[in-house]
Amino acid sequence: MSSKLDVVLGLQWGDEGKGKIVDVLAGRYPAVARFQGGPNAGHSLHFDGKNFVVRSIPSGIFREGSTNIIGSGVVLDPITLREECANVEKMNINPKEKLFISKKANLILPTHRLLDAAYEAAAGKGKIGSTLKGIGPTYTDKISRHGLRVGDILAPDFRERFEKLKARHIQLLSDLHFECDPEKDEAEWMSAIEFLKGFNLIDCEYFVNKWLENKPMLAEGAQGSMLDIDYGSYPFVTSSSTTVGGVCTGLGVAPSKIGHVYGIFKAYCTRVGSGPFPTELFDETGEKIRQVGHEFGAVTGRPRRCGWLDLVALKYTVMIDGVTDLIMMKSDCLDDFETIKVCTSYKVDGVETDQVPFDIAAQIEPVYTEFPGWKKDLTGIRKESELPQEFKNYIKFMEDYLGVPISIISLGPDREATIERYRSEEHTSELQSLPNLVCRLLLEKK
Ligand code: IMO
Ligand code: MG
Repeated sequence: MSSKLDVVLGLQWGDEGKGKIVDVLAGRYPAVARFQGGPNAGHSLHFDGKNFVVRSIPSGIFREGSTNIIGSGVVLDPITLREECANVEKMNINPKEKLFISKKANLILPTHRLLDAAYEAAAGKGKIGSTLKGIGPTYTDKISRHGLRVGDILAPDFRERFEKLKARHIQLLSDLHFECDPEKDEAEWMSAIEFLKGFNLIDCEYFVNKWLENKPMLAEGAQGSMLDIDYGSYPFVTSSSTTVGGVCTGLGVAPSKIGHVYGIFKAYCTRVGSGPFPTELFDETGEKIRQVGHEFGAVTGRPRRCGWLDLVALKYTVMIDGVTDLIMMKSDCLDDFETIKVCTSYKVDGVETDQVPFDIAAQIEPVYTEFPGWKKDLTGIRKESELPQEFKNYIKFMEDYLGVPISIISLGPDREATIERYRSEEHTSELQSLPNLVCRLLLEKK
């Protein structure tokens, strides 16, 4: 029987802690693949007392013997890749041995970054709050069939095609009256293209499907489901499919190959950039969450907007992604709160609902359920039995509301600060295997 492609996705607005969890899970998967997004991601890993941030490289890179794939759905900036590789090399890891890059991934040109800045400047107050890494303009070129792909760098007419696309961008920049030097980073980019030629450039769809014939793989999402191009709060979203469908298109695999979907969420919400955020806090509670949770961008350093956990939005993304296992991050950051709130429904224009409305301009008033805080330092706890009862009640409530078990609770940034309540194989075999289910029902009847 063939192996499965399990998936890790952020269920909120990004920055849920995907890097840490992929790093923890990567010990069980011989391969990790990024399927969408680009250097707008900033995945933080902490181990052996050190911190690392990866942006395009999968978070599995630090695990011994791992294979790491940058899939077709990713947009790749060769300059950023080279910088990231230099950091990885400091750990005595040779990225050229462990990293395989899809020929079908689209390239981010220096002028894509400039266009990102130009569009944001032109949008004024309506700006998206983009990371300005060129993500939107690169996906725009991909969809409008003007893009350059990684495999193109091997073509004899690559330079010509580059010049053609650059000329197009210069015209657009001029139309937007954006003052810049479009050739500023060109020499650096071209030398990074030479660096890129030293990697294994692959036909991702063949590579991944062949791999899955006898070995499992983990797909690592970037951003979060609420930033999905179709299902997020459009237009305040990123430009890729961050939800589970993006795994199939981004890696070239069929939905039947997907196994577990690990959905990651923080015990509160954060958002960087613009757009609706119903539970956002503008008071000292929001500030306290920001400080305790160190909620400042891993890539941009921007302070993140903070608010209470939004279960309406979370239930929506659990549904879209078909989440089988929930992973809760950073509940230790709420250790010192008298009362903890979670939003369990919205009042949209005065009418209560448990659904995310289409209209992002709708006035949403969050309706909260309150829990007494546990007022105890959770960071050192490694066993579920040692968790305070208030905390247990809180997670039970969430599991009931969301209808999916919380398999892993993370209580700090380090690899070790993790409680695994049950391994995914265990609870799926219980939930999914028919004989087990029948046994359980019979026992319950007795
Ligand atoms: P990770 O993978 C949080 C946000 C930006 C902006 C919007 C569009 O670290 O969770 P873009 O540069 O993609 O055009 O910006 O999406 N955004 C993220 N927010 N975490 C991320 O990645 C993000 N990547 C993009 O702030 O609002
Ligand atoms: Mg991040």
